[in-house]
Amino acid sequence: MSFASDVRRGLGRRPRRLPPHWFYDELGSRLFDAICLLPWYRITRAERRLLVRAARAMSKGAAGPALVAELGPGNGEKLALLLAGLGGSRRVLLADISREALSAATARLAKGGFADVAALRGSYEKGLARIARERPRRGAALVLFLGSNLGNFEPARASRFLRDVRSALRPGDGFLLGADLVKPEKDLLLAYDDPLGVTAAFNRNVLARMNRELGADFDLSSFAHRAVWNAREARVEMYLVSRRAQRVRIPGARLHVPFRRGESIFTEASYKYDSAELLARVEAEGFCARHCFEDGPAGYALTFYEAVELRRR
Ligand code: TRP
Repeated sequence: MSFASDVRRGLGRRPRRLPPHWFYDELGSRLFDAICLLPWYRITRAERRLLVRAARAMSKGAAGPALVAELGPGNGEKLALLLAGLGGSRRVLLADISREALSAATARLAKGGFADVAALRGSYEKGLARIARERPRRGAALVLFLGSNLGNFEPARASRFLRDVRSALRPGDGFLLGADLVKPEKDLLLAYDDPLGVTAAFNRNVLARMNRELGADFDLSSFAHRAVWNAREARVEMYLVSRRAQRVRIPGARLHVPFRRGESIFTEASYKYDSAELLARVEAEGFCARHCFEDGPAGYALTFYEAVELRRR
């Protein structure tokens, strides 16, 4: 789907919404890197600590995976950390929708001395298809899905994604999944609405991107960033709220959008998990948990699963 057609589809109806992957243009990717440094956004630092422990556990015994693939590697820092911890050499595959992320990750890995790296610009589905197609004949594959990115899917979509990962793998392959856990509301809101306003800038950048790429005339200051904890759905919801009644033109999407005062664009959901519940959901799709790492203070879980024989349904 192109940006223009997603904008046309998402903003041309009510409630208005936009798919979150359009956040990550060059500026958006950098703003996201800045979010990861914020003291209130603990996901990235917690996950880095857990990855060091995971690499240590995984490098005991067997030779380790022949192929390591990450879906949505961002700037590649976490992958480089894991590969360094695993030691040895292996093939690496990156799949990301963002060109900026792929070039940053490739450069980061090259700096770490990892040269056998293939980058695929495209959806997770395309990445998984390529893993299934191009994996080495011998040795296991390991798929990484970090940053609690699973939480950006609706539950049904998350289950479908887990099934797709499993279908791309063979028994004995690995799947490393990071998940942010339910925690006190005030901590969740600070993580998604920080006092420095970086997250607000990140969210609003999608409006700026429509101005840049689709010739739109969004007045950025007339949209407020809002993060809401929806306890019933166990998710943080991100919105851009129109501070006044206004009309916006988006010529590149052949669209005029009237906003009422207080009307919002739903830009992202970030589901938070109960670790035992999530583990059961993942195992139901043909995996078995081998190592669980949890960071209590940050409320974050990193779990290493092994793909097991699929029971016939
Ligand atoms: N995957 C990240 C998360 O859900 C993305 C993210 C972090 C995000 N902060 C955000 C998305 C703010 C939109 C707005 O934690």
